Amino acid sequence: MPSYAFVDGQYMPRHLAQLPLEDRATNFGDGIYEVWVVAQGKLVDEQKHFARLERSLGELQIPMPMGRPALAQHIQRLIRRNNIRFGTVYLQISRGASKRDHVPAADIVPSLTIFTNNKPALADARLSPKPLKIITGPDLRWARRDIKSTSLLPNVMLRMEAHQQGCHEAWMVDDQGFVTEGTSSSSWIVTPEKVVVTRALTNDILPGVTRDTVRELMSQSNHKFEERAFSVEEAEQAAEAFITSATNFVGPVVEINGVTIGHGQIGEVTTILRDLYLRAAGL
Ligand code: PDD
Repeated sequence: MPSYAFVDGQYMPRHLAQLPLEDRATNFGDGIYEVWVVAQGKLVDEQKHFARLERSLGELQIPMPMGRPALAQHIQRLIRRNNIRFGTVYLQISRGASKRDHVPAADIVPSLTIFTNNKPALADARLSPKPLKIITGPDLRWARRDIKSTSLLPNVMLRMEAHQQGCHEAWMVDDQGFVTEGTSSSSWIVTPEKVVVTRALTNDILPGVTRDTVRELMSQSNHKFEERAFSVEEAEQAAEAFITSATNFVGPVVEINGVTIGHGQIGEVTTILRDLYLRAAGL
């Protein structure tokens, strides 16, 4: 059975789906996207991703192609049609297609693409998670990192470097030497005094949905929490480090720039937060 994609109002076999030559997400990176995880056939943190989608579109003055309920219905249909119990949904909204010009045509219509990926292994998320090794590198992105834009070149370049070095993720570092976030995840440390730290929300980072849920769940654990910037040196000397993202949940970081973090295994606080998150996500 082929996997289906949803493209501008139509369901079609994924391998036949196409975007126009002059789609602005392709030509200019002029689009936004969201990624949801599907657990037991349901979208994890569904409404928070929709809220961020609407906010990103608003900041770029791209109209929602349809209302939230209709969008949610198309996603649900695709999940059912593609028989996804555990997997991911990728949704992209481009400003649309018009003759290539920095100024879009006045009557441009946004283009909506949705596809899914089947990931049965997510069902086993409760088994021991993969220990992650990361590197750090300069944050070369623009000043509006709070918008989930499809322009991801600096993220891609640094992530390729991490991969070449046998690492899973890279943390981006601002001009002052402070970590902003991962190339596709939020960055966290646990200090030797057991304080959980992640960078505060400004235009410097994407407001991670998983970050937000973990922050809320922290009220169920008795850990001290601080939203502040931390340096690469502080991270390398932390008791624990981890990332959060829709697809990684709470992922333990055991090595930063070749320096072992804590005991080189998933830390105690990370384990508690990961378990809380997975339970809340229905995993
Ligand atoms: N990445 N920071 C960046 C730069 C991201 O791209 C992401 C998500 C996050 C975490 O956000 P959330 O918890 O809402 O997934 C933080 C997605 C998963 C991706 O690009 O595939």
